[in-house]
Amino acid sequence: MNGETVSVGTTDHPEGERLRGRIAAELARARSRTALLTEAVDDADLMRQHSPLMSPLVWDLAHVGNQEELWLVRDVGGREPVRCDIDELYDAFKQPRRDRPALPLLPPAEARAYLGTVRDKVHDLLDAVSFTDRPLVAAGFAFGMIVQHEQQHDETMLATHQLRAGAAVLHAPPPPEPTARVGGEVLVPAGEFTMGTDSDPWALDNERPAHRVDLPAYVIDAAPVTNGEYEAFIADGGYDDPRWWSAAGWEHRVSEQLVAPMHWRRDGDGWAYRRFGRWDPVRADEPVVHVCFHEAQAYAAWAGKRLPTEAEWEKAARWDPATGRSRRYPWGDGDSTEAHANLDQRHLRPAPVGAYPAGASPLGVHQLIGDVWEWTSTTFRGHPGFTAFPYREYSEVFFGDDYRVLRGGSFGTDRSACRGTFRNWDYPIRRQIFSGFRCARDAAPDESRR
Ligand SMILES: [Fe+2]
Repeated sequence: MNGETVSVGTTDHPEGERLRGRIAAELARARSRTALLTEAVDDADLMRQHSPLMSPLVWDLAHVGNQEELWLVRDVGGREPVRCDIDELYDAFKQPRRDRPALPLLPPAEARAYLGTVRDKVHDLLDAVSFTDRPLVAAGFAFGMIVQHEQQHDETMLATHQLRAGAAVLHAPPPPEPTARVGGEVLVPAGEFTMGTDSDPWALDNERPAHRVDLPAYVIDAAPVTNGEYEAFIADGGYDDPRWWSAAGWEHRVSEQLVAPMHWRRDGDGWAYRRFGRWDPVRADEPVVHVCFHEAQAYAAWAGKRLPTEAEWEKAARWDPATGRSRRYPWGDGDSTEAHANLDQRHLRPAPVGAYPAGASPLGVHQLIGDVWEWTSTTFRGHPGFTAFPYREYSEVFFGDDYRVLRGGSFGTDRSACRGTFRNWDYPIRRQIFSGFRCARDAAPDESRR
């Protein structure tokens, strides 16, 4: 935070005006989702910790405002702090999640008032800002970062809602029904493709820079693994057979007594699944969700396959064999719409396989974006030539062997925080997130010659 002020230049440049309008709309969209998720429950519920893995919702709420104050009001705007007395309380690095309920947090009404004050100041400075070449403000980057940060916490808050006991408080229409028959595998031919990006203006540091990656031929599932497929793994004794599990995975499976995805329970001969306070029968053609990396890896081994590497996932999603280019999204360079992917918390569940044919990649791989985050076998590292920006704590401090990369976003992810290059990471034991997977395998010699 250097406190440098932005240059206040002409505000009537048409490009600048368009960007200003887009930022204002994105900020408003994020805030209305934050409001929906935090107004759905009463104050006592907001202050409560629903799982030691998660913060009380009221912590996320004020933390969203505090990050907006730090980056936009103080750093971009060079304005006086609104409340520097609470910086420590809402610093995710200083306050482990399990300890957050014991902190002297702002009560809900005070947290909401704080967010409102910060947002008013942001609107003031947005009116005056020039999008100069200064990296923090070029193309509105810091505003985009804050939009994505709020939307990421909205997905975290949705995961907290999924962990909360009690009656349902969130409501959404079901996702579309399948309109295409999708299944089987897709061959991705050997060769180079461009991974990462230099040009997406709101891409975060870990998505940069663009670089060439050469991959041997491989085969990847056309769709995420479904509940029906996963039930076959359970029915075949997959959870009882250490052959399918890594040593660490088996140890975790045994110590946590895992027998099925999180939120599942036996229901007669089948399974039921609790989502957002309602029990539903498990639907066979829906992507499986709430599985950890170890479960995904064990399923893949049982199926005679493996998880894709992160590069394999991205090539299947972005590489266009007709042009040799990598697209922003599987369907092209245009932003996500309702026809492309199950994003934006429009539906509070993954869509059945075959529901988004318009979102398929040029090679015919479906539902890469939205529905469920997909575990990859890759540990989280910087791309070659990585530079931390605007701060090491955004991603660099997480690089190493502890985290596996997840790609593609879920039904709980907003379109502003999801691209063909977007990278998420988590511990291999985590499954409170909206995580699923698809499988891949090396191409056999006769397949890759075809
Ligand atoms: Fe955060």
